[in-house]
Amino acid sequence: MKLLAVTVSLGAALLVTMTAPSYAGGGDAIFKKNCASCHYTDGPAKEKTIADQLAKKGPELFYAGSKFQKGWLAAWLQDPKPIRPMKYNSLTEKNAGDHPKSSAGDAAALTDYLMGLTSAKVAAGKIKAKSTPQARNIFAKKMPCSGCHQTESKGDVSGGLSGPSLVGAGKRLNPDWVYAYLTDVKSFKPVRDMPDFSKAMSPKDMEGLAAYIATFE
Ligand code: HEC
Ligand code: HEC
Repeated sequence: MKLLAVTVSLGAALLVTMTAPSYAGGGDAIFKKNCASCHYTDGPAKEKTIADQLAKKGPELFYAGSKFQKGWLAAWLQDPKPIRPMKYNSLTEKNAGDHPKSSAGDAAALTDYLMGLTSAKVAAGKIKAKSTPQARNIFAKKMPCSGCHQTESKGDVSGGLSGPSLVGAGKRLNPDWVYAYLTDVKSFKPVRDMPDFSKAMSPKDMEGLAAYIATFE
């Protein structure tokens, strides 16, 4: 497996030496070639306006290493499934799972590269998965979270479509990132944002929500 990844990335390195002399490992070269046309990796400074956002079809990935769980990322890159149900986040009208697929070797190299892109705004190891009645009540009733996000309960998927689906969020998202995001939406998504609820909830409420979302299957 390791050998294969090394061979694949060496091949990729040879292919891109002409255009990417600063090559420093498999994943970043593959990313420049296959992914950078649709995703920013250089921080919020690059994405200040709607026009910047429209220039890239995919979400920003400059904090991918803080946002995603490594195992999920490696698997998803080989077999991507829609996360955002609305067509404006998709490559085609229906978002039928049309994201480019990576080989196992490329996915491993890309995952190592993306997991290295972390954000200093995310405190690691703070939030542990936990479902409390308070958090369930905030998510479903006190705040309009479920009006924009799908979740699954006993096999039934319900909820709004304008935000990313949170079905399986416990396996996909790092709860420490979810907490940081809820407290400071604009630092992570300067344009394609959701409403800022950080004034409407206490830090404890937001910790509880992040811990609750980490239980989503
Ligand atoms: C033609 C544009 C395009 C290309 C090329 C592309 N992506 Fe994407 N990517 C998207 C879109 C659109 C989404 C959002 C899909 C969704 O939410 O259903 C996405 C989502 C993602 C996500 C999940 C992001 C999140 O915040 O949920 C990751 C990770 C990702 N892409 C990595 C890659 C990698 C690695 C490559 C190169 C192998 C790549 N993408 C190539 C358009 C693209
Ligand atoms: C008006 C619609 C709306 C409401 C209400 C809303 N969100 Fe969001 N949410 C969004 C949008 C839009 C995004 C980011 C879209 C993107 O990345 O393309 C988002 C992103 C997220 C993400 C990151 C998901 C990911 O995969 O990137 C989480 C977690 C989240 N919201 C939780 C919540 C919680 C908790 C609440 C309630 C306190 C809430 N949202 C209320 C629209 C909403």
